[in-house]
Amino acid sequence: MSSAVSENYLAGKVAIVTGGCGGIGTAICQRFVKEGATVYAADIHTGDGNAANIATYVHHDVTSEDSTKALIAQVTADHDKLDILVNAAGIEFEKTIEDTSLEEWNRMFAINVTGTFLTSKYALPLMRNAGGGSIINFGSYDGFIADPQLAAYCASKGAVHALTKAMACDHGPENIRVNAVCPGYVDTPMLQSFFGEAGNIETLQKAVRDVHPLQTYGQPEDVANLVNWLAGNEARYASGQLWVLDGGLSAQVQQMRL
Ligand SMILES: NC(=O)c1ccc[n+]([C@@H]2O[C@H](COP(=O)([O-])OP(=O)(O)OC[C@H]3O[C@@H](n4cnc5c(N)ncnc54)[C@H](O)[C@@H]3O)[C@@H](O)[C@H]2O)c1
Repeated sequence: MSSAVSENYLAGKVAIVTGGCGGIGTAICQRFVKEGATVYAADIHTGDGNAANIATYVHHDVTSEDSTKALIAQVTADHDKLDILVNAAGIEFEKTIEDTSLEEWNRMFAINVTGTFLTSKYALPLMRNAGGGSIINFGSYDGFIADPQLAAYCASKGAVHALTKAMACDHGPENIRVNAVCPGYVDTPMLQSFFGEAGNIETLQKAVRDVHPLQTYGQPEDVANLVNWLAGNEARYASGQLWVLDGGLSAQVQQMRL
């Protein structure tokens, strides 16, 4: 067994990254391209344009069956196979259930849960054409434990965790591995918008850093490192698992800091 993931780890692989123009999605696209993969960045926005510049950008709304079919049709026409699917599209908002409208609740689930279901469902035939593949969903440490005022988000990520295990059971015999990456705090536009809703941003940023055993929050590249490993053959025996990547945050009892 080699000790490190090698250069060109993903040579010859075809990958779709939903939410591919977001903070984490862009870092994944960049890493996959560096490792030799052909990458489709599927997103409703081009973001800062960095992912769209190095990968093939496809306008894709994960909540739409037609949009998903069109994305898969494009990859079928270009390559007739798919090796890697990363379901990174997601939204987050901070509300209790009392403050959450039914429309907001349904939108959270439409993007975070139904989006994962839909893109995976239509990607499976293309993965069979490749003789197997790797699906990497995005859960969260919030799918295990709750932050205040994230009720709909926590529920949606818990659903992604359960879906990940179910998909791994169903498709393992086809050599299709399914895992979820479950980050803690990662420095992306999503986290900046979380900070932006607070009054004193610098105080909150410091408080968030200090609560981690590693005294920092993560960078998108940290997440891309794990996703890259899960995508390729070094992870051939890894499936059905929820990989927490949170700087040790969820390992500690918070009361000990009082
Ligand atoms: N940043 C964090 O701290 C953190 C922590 C835990 C989990 N996550 C998860 O990681 C994933 C990526 O988050 P991020 O921090 O990069 O967020 P981000 O906001 O930077 O990126 C999310 C991307 O999803 C796209 N998107 C939203 N709705 C879409 C739709 N209907 N169809 C297609 N694309 C859509 C957005 O355009 C955006 O580019 C999400 O699933 C998120 O829940 C993030």
